[in-house]
Amino acid sequence: MIETPRLTLRRFKATDAAPLAAYRNDPDIARYQAWPSPLSPQAAADTVRRYAEQDPDRPGWFQYAIELKADGGLAGDLGVLLHETGAQADLGFTLAPHLHRQGYATEAVQAVIRHLFARGLHRVSAECDARNTASARLLERNGFQREGRRPEFTRNINTGEWTDTLLYGLLARDWSDLISPSSAR
Ligand SMILES: CC(C)(COP(=O)(O)OP(=O)(O)OC[C@H]1O[C@@H](n2cnc3c(N)ncnc32)[C@H](O)[C@@H]1OP(=O)(O)O)[C@@H](O)C(=O)NCCC(=O)NCCS
Repeated sequence: MIETPRLTLRRFKATDAAPLAAYRNDPDIARYQAWPSPLSPQAAADTVRRYAEQDPDRPGWFQYAIELKADGGLAGDLGVLLHETGAQADLGFTLAPHLHRQGYATEAVQAVIRHLFARGLHRVSAECDARNTASARLLERNGFQREGRRPEFTRNINTGEWTDTLLYGLLARDWSDLISPSSAR
């Protein structure tokens, strides 16, 4: 559905269940996330089936499967929560650990942001656990502004601890200034 030089972002399919469970069951990957871990094989199959039925053009979540062109494997997933107004969205993302630090998440996030702003969205938001430095770096690398910190705003689904949440946002006009600075007002 969305192509980048190294990735295809597409709808989930049944064969994604095992690789999805493999990275979501890694405690380092699940640490700051809002989904339950570990995931049983049945729960992974149900999750993938639910993702496959989502509609990217309707309000609510659409979860892209991130596929690596080099080997066709599932590299991760990227969720877009389209608001009821159709003018805003929230993002969430996960990459399998063996693919970290090679720019794949940046490539996927940039492609989805470009796609969302091309279809007329005004603003994209994201949040992360304040300790999730890789996630904060990824957002800032892609032009997101840090807009605040909410102390003990989120209760971690797996550990029960109350955690601080960082808030991030990116406006369409700031994005276009970022990708073509000569058009900056
Ligand atoms: C958040 C997450 C997706 C970020 O992954 P990441 O590998 O750090 O991000 P990228 O794939 O964009 O890689 C960027 C890094 O690769 C380096 N890099 C190497 N080659 C690169 C290239 N061709 N292009 C861009 N960056 C490249 C960058 O310098 C950067 O390193 P740095 O973080 O030391 O500055 C990952 O840490 C993750 O899946 N975490 C677990 C799930 C999670 O917590 N998700 C967020 C919930 S809010």
